[in-house]
Amino acid sequence: MQHNTARYMLSLAATAIVCLAGCKKTPSDATDGSSSGQADGFAAAKATYTIGMSQCNLGEPWRVQMNDDVRRAAEAHPELKMIFKDAQNDTLKQRAHVEEFIGAGVDLIIISPKEAQPLTEPVAKAMEAGIPVIVLDRRVIGDNYTCFIGADNRLIGREAGEWIVSALGGKGNVVELKGLMTSTPGQDRHSGFREAIKDSQINIIFEADMKWLEPDARKEMESALSRFDQIDLVYAHNDPGAHGAWLAANAAGREGQIRFVGIDALPHEGVLYVKEGILDATFQYPTGGAEAIDAALKILRGESVPKEITLGSRVFTKENVEAGGEPIG
Ligand code: FRU
Repeated sequence: MQHNTARYMLSLAATAIVCLAGCKKTPSDATDGSSSGQADGFAAAKATYTIGMSQCNLGEPWRVQMNDDVRRAAEAHPELKMIFKDAQNDTLKQRAHVEEFIGAGVDLIIISPKEAQPLTEPVAKAMEAGIPVIVLDRRVIGDNYTCFIGADNRLIGREAGEWIVSALGGKGNVVELKGLMTSTPGQDRHSGFREAIKDSQINIIFEADMKWLEPDARKEMESALSRFDQIDLVYAHNDPGAHGAWLAANAAGREGQIRFVGIDALPHEGVLYVKEGILDATFQYPTGGAEAIDAALKILRGESVPKEITLGSRVFTKENVEAGGEPIG
């Protein structure tokens, strides 16, 4: 860490004031041998910071990738100590995890919330306790957080819609398999898509909430296949959903008549499916893991960060996949 002397003295003074007002012991205090110079009543500037990372689940490759990206970026900064918690797709568990981080007095929280509404209050409580919060990928309601990082899901939905209109020549029967509709990416990927197709002759003949889960998408697609003889394309809000739909169509011997479009574009998932001819297109949804650690460091050093950090996206199709896709937007 770099300090100029004046800033260092300032931070010592600030720490002293905070401590006089009631110094709270934090996990990083406990593990930080060098921050114990308190004989004269002054605490030294922190040599380590503890970041609590609340992940809504680790059941999908994309979230495993997000945690890996966070971990790798944090490892490059020995002053950061990460605590990871996996809510296993359980909102109540995730709320409890945030409360635990507050109780432990972590220095900063990174959260990728399962659902917007139920996680809004615990995030607000952390902010009230003076713990900065970075919200990653899925939003909470309102703007009581320090920084939001994620790609523009409405834009991705709209670009997917435009790609689909063009691929189908402006008309056809489409199945929409939606992500969890109590989460903001599901809502935005839906509204952006609907906006893009509204003047076309595309009919949404079947839509269902597959909650981001491949097995649910497969089941929903089985119903769609049993009800409709003519399905031209499946738009799924993520690649596991598109793959689940493909598995159902494949089992029914109909995958050759249907196109499949997904979102995420992990190299070892969606991009691979495009290379294998399973998906016709996938739109990248970056995890933001490295950007979250960049922002966390700035916040912890007292530097300012933008309230919103919007990540870019790319589309991968069989025409451009070998060249690394193309940027959208
Ligand atoms: C993983 C995931 C991704 C999706 C993201 C949206 O849990 O479903 O597939 O893009 O969450 O938040």
